[in-house]
Amino acid sequence: MKPEQREPLLDSGFWRAVGVMAVISIVLMVGVVVFPIDKYFPEAATVSKPIDDLFKFCAFFGAPIFVFINGFLLYFAIRFRRRADEPIDAVGSEIHEHQGLELTWTVIPSLLMVVLAVLSYLVIPLYYPTNQAFASAVTLEAIGHKFYYEFRYPGLKQSVMNELHLPIGIPVTVDLTSAEDEQDVHNGAVIHSFWVPEFRLKQDMIPGIVIPIHFTPSELGTYRIVCSEFCGLGHSHMWGKVIVQSKAEFNAWYADQQRAAASPISAPLSLAGGNPSAGQTIFNAKCTVCHNAAPFAQRKVGPGLSQLFDDPDHPDLVTGKKATPDNVADIVEHGAHGDMGVMPNMQANGLSPKDVADLVAYLRTLR
Ligand code: CUA
Repeated sequence: MKPEQREPLLDSGFWRAVGVMAVISIVLMVGVVVFPIDKYFPEAATVSKPIDDLFKFCAFFGAPIFVFINGFLLYFAIRFRRRADEPIDAVGSEIHEHQGLELTWTVIPSLLMVVLAVLSYLVIPLYYPTNQAFASAVTLEAIGHKFYYEFRYPGLKQSVMNELHLPIGIPVTVDLTSAEDEQDVHNGAVIHSFWVPEFRLKQDMIPGIVIPIHFTPSELGTYRIVCSEFCGLGHSHMWGKVIVQSKAEFNAWYADQQRAAASPISAPLSLAGGNPSAGQTIFNAKCTVCHNAAPFAQRKVGPGLSQLFDDPDHPDLVTGKKATPDNVADIVEHGAHGDMGVMPNMQANGLSPKDVADLVAYLRTLR
């Protein structure tokens, strides 16, 4: 016997529910149009606004789709629930081949996708400078490492680590890639990501491929560069900074960098006055990405360091030198390449000479 089938009942309750959903949708759509994103989340580059407009387009049409789909789901679940007096095998009304409905839910989303595709096609070339007509004032290189960013400026001998200084209003092209030297290949060259939320720019940094992106910083300030590709144990610590400065400030910074390159710090680091508790704070913030404060065998990326100065099984450091405070400080200062991986230098880790002294003082307390 065929189970009893209910007929569709689109009664006044249904149309009231549609009315409520329409009102909520209109409120949300107006909200999307008038909401000043820039007030809460600066649009700090010239490409930010067109990206936000794309987002607003999606949110504007996404709001009613979300409200109606979930609203109907809720309404039908409640209105056509099984009543206590109904047979257990009762089924709801089945609707097939309702051409009006099927056309509606096919044509509207298809049209929206086509329009979105066209709008995206217009926006994307704004930050991928495929068009040679585009005049960049300057081209920089950005290289993702485990787990820091390296920036190379034209005319600067040394790289700048983790801090990307840019003058406001100057169009730049940044060539993005990921480190692929022998050590990284040996340990697995990985994909990083260059994401500056305030620029609304996000691009993977891929080993072996250089991807230029293009933008003009349009708002002074300091913004985060986020690595959004899981690149290893230190991924969550991989942050950089973009500092958008006035032209005068930028020129002063650039001149400082040139001077620093001309007169490298040649004096050896002084380990005198190292503060172990300050060193512990730095260790926990920076070094625990790769090292445990535990015996050698408890390694993460590099070995555990608690017996660094007092380990009969490992009397020598990765540099082949004896484990003395000066030789350890030398590794912290210059970084190291070993069979376990690459340790970035002091500049890449954002350490001052005083930090190095504090770190060594702390490591000496661990034995
Ligand atoms: Cu680099 Cu995640």
